Amino acid sequence: MLTHHALTVFDQLPLAERLFVRARLITAPLDELAKRVHGTRMLDVGCGHGLLCSMLALGFPDRQIVGIDPDPKKIDWARRSVGKLGNTRFDVMTVERLASIEPESFDTVCVSDVLYLLPTEAWPEFFAACHQLLKKKGVLLLKEAEDDGGWRTRKALLQEQVMVKVLGRTKGSGAIGFSKRESTKAMLERAGFKVEEIVSLKAGSTTPHVLFVAKV
Ligand SMILES: C[S@@+](CC[C@H](N)C(=O)[O-])C[C@H]1O[C@@H](n2cnc3c(N)ncnc32)[C@H](O)[C@@H]1O
Repeated sequence: MLTHHALTVFDQLPLAERLFVRARLITAPLDELAKRVHGTRMLDVGCGHGLLCSMLALGFPDRQIVGIDPDPKKIDWARRSVGKLGNTRFDVMTVERLASIEPESFDTVCVSDVLYLLPTEAWPEFFAACHQLLKKKGVLLLKEAEDDGGWRTRKALLQEQVMVKVLGRTKGSGAIGFSKRESTKAMLERAGFKVEEIVSLKAGSTTPHVLFVAKV
């Protein structure tokens, strides 16, 4: 049985939600983001139930963690679990709107498995908002599945089509698709980021996870 301290805050949620969070813990390498965060004020864009926020907040009372998601259901689950920790805040919000309200206010912005839900034409505006939200020397940690041309990409695409279109577990934003790492890197650079590291995290996984570490 998988145990992780970040799961404890979800104990009071219904079984289906607890299983969903547990599945995220097993299938998404969120710990790779958690171990690279910088500073004390952190934002998770498209936070879902708030699993990554839980990893970042639990045991770190000096940190302030903000999670945003356009799906009110997800924010409700996050508030009823991780939101009970004193150092977290959850808002139904888009990244663009938050950037206009709280510019240059985060040391780290995390984005995990969100962009594949948006058409690529919307990515530049999304990245520009992330850039605007970060303080000088701030870090963007972007985890997506990439289009590596292989079976993992085809499997991940099918899986996400089921999650969004059949089960309705994930709120879509107009598209489902993965990008090649070179085009994501180029887009990040056009938004003003310096891409310091691209880490392939697909070994041992059926999903072609890739992590971009980018600085302002
Ligand atoms: C696959 S889940 C990932 C949740 C979480 N980041 C994680 O890694 O466990 C995708 C999340 O993106 C959210 N989302 C959909 N469209 C979005 C958008 N335009 N901006 C930010 N988040 C969005 C969904 O509501 C959902 O919670």
